[in-house]
Amino acid sequence: MLGLHSRRAVIASALALAACSRPAKSQTVIPDDPLKSLADFPVGCCVQAGQLDDPDFAALLARHFSQLTPEWEMKMEYIVQPDGSFQFDRPDRIAGFAREHGLRLYGTTLIWYAQKPDAFIHLDPSRATFGQAYDNYIAGVVGRYQGAAGWDVVNEPVAEDGNGWRQSLWAERLGDFDHMVRAFHVAEAADPTATLFINDYNLESLPAKLSTYQRLIEKLLAAGAPVSGIGCQTHANADLAPGAIAHAIQALAGFGLPIHVSEMDVSVARAKGFLTSRVDLETRQARLYEEAGHAFASLPPKQRFAFTVWGLRDKDSWLHGENAGDTPVLFDDAGEPKPAFAALAKGFQP
Ligand code: XIL
Repeated sequence: MLGLHSRRAVIASALALAACSRPAKSQTVIPDDPLKSLADFPVGCCVQAGQLDDPDFAALLARHFSQLTPEWEMKMEYIVQPDGSFQFDRPDRIAGFAREHGLRLYGTTLIWYAQKPDAFIHLDPSRATFGQAYDNYIAGVVGRYQGAAGWDVVNEPVAEDGNGWRQSLWAERLGDFDHMVRAFHVAEAADPTATLFINDYNLESLPAKLSTYQRLIEKLLAAGAPVSGIGCQTHANADLAPGAIAHAIQALAGFGLPIHVSEMDVSVARAKGFLTSRVDLETRQARLYEEAGHAFASLPPKQRFAFTVWGLRDKDSWLHGENAGDTPVLFDDAGEPKPAFAALAKGFQP
């Protein structure tokens, strides 16, 4: 279908954009269609409640995507108050927007080593008391958004270098393996219809991390944990070797469970040679999106849970805070689709 409905909006290649005095060597035809219409699986984007106040943002989001992940307002950092109470106004707003526009809601993240609110730190550390609060949190959040398509139940459990699992408050109080099993059981009881994910990153760039992640999934399944989906965040850098993303997706698909490409972006600024070869890196960026899209679209239909990008326009990306010159996602600051958009759309085609 690509090209059929396109307005042949031929835009200058990244080469011409970066060096305006040189003519474009290649041109990219950007499809005019909504991204979600070019895929036969859900296509997601992360969102913050405040962004929905911007009508341009809201329209672009609803036009191209069929699933929303709250970027941070469904995490403990927003929900858990110092006195241990929960606040839900902003995640409710995102859930309401999803409902009104017929989009799926994806919840992230229930248990994450990176977030340990004071209210939990100061609790009586006994397994009974702490465990009850832990269960209460998971059940409360999942229960409130019953009907969500899925949840990141345990996020980023594997150590940064891939050797073993991460230390965390949750592991200290409830056991490094047991806290994960427990979280899946509690989430399942709160919403038996949601797909329950484990999720991690750098699986394409660090073979040891991919392998530890696979072993952990095996162990969780063997212990009876109701893990029903596998997430591959896919935060990549533009200098990642070709083939690495496809390899990780295929390796994880070996479990036969639904796969979520859950947070894809491709940083140009974090890649080697950013200042000297930006043009080259943007071409590589587009290829990585195409590779990921194609690897995902090639999975058996039942395993294509969703393909999610982590940010709508470049200026909305979390990486923008780290380097304002980074351009990691599919739409530029003005909301125009980039070559990366065309590449992902192409990858989605069988
Ligand atoms: C980030 C969000 O983009 C930020 O806005 C938030 O403050 C912190 O989390 N891996 C993850 C995501 O699993 O949840 C992170 O998102 C990005 C890295």
